[in-house]
Amino acid sequence: MLLSDKKEFAGRIKQVIITEDELAQKIAEYGEIISREYEGKPLMLVSVLKGSFLFLADLCKQITIPCEIGFMAAKSYFEGTESSGEVEITYDLAQDISKYHVVVVEDIIDTGRTLKLIVQKLRDRGPLSLKTVTLLDKPDRRLCEFEADYTLFTIPDLFVIGYGLDYGEYYRNLPYIAEYGE
Ligand code: IMP
Ligand code: MG
Repeated sequence: MLLSDKKEFAGRIKQVIITEDELAQKIAEYGEIISREYEGKPLMLVSVLKGSFLFLADLCKQITIPCEIGFMAAKSYFEGTESSGEVEITYDLAQDISKYHVVVVEDIIDTGRTLKLIVQKLRDRGPLSLKTVTLLDKPDRRLCEFEADYTLFTIPDLFVIGYGLDYGEYYRNLPYIAEYGE
């Protein structure tokens, strides 16, 4: 999709679901929770790209204990706003995680397939512990059993964009979460 028309771009932002302030407030709260839980422990945050890049950036700034950052990338194939069910790991974590408590940072849990696969892969590498934090959860859409350890916002079954989340690779740079509509 090539979206160069500013009016068409703006017209597809249907309604704001979570504002910039609401995001900041909740992220500060969870930064504190994670800092408390992992105090005195070697912590590594593993961001699942691309969708979680802004969430990771803001969350890690709210963490007040030493932590390392790692990246993985997963691609779910979409037909419009529907996931095809195919998940591919396109970039793997470079670090050895066996001496770390790992927290996987995800943008959204929809069917649950992506995070389930990532968690399986990371568990096989024997981290000291492994938990997951997701910015958004759409529990109505779940197709496999998976719950995050920390969920910042639970949302209804809507296709959302902004704050890292895309439609056809656009809208990741919006500072808030909005519903997408054509
Ligand atoms: P899964 O269905 O739980 O595997 O989610 C796969 C991925 O689909 C997520 O990590 C997102 O990148 C993407 N995704 C799911 N729902 C939405 C949405 O509402 N907006 C944008 N991306 C989404
Ligand atoms: Mg994602």
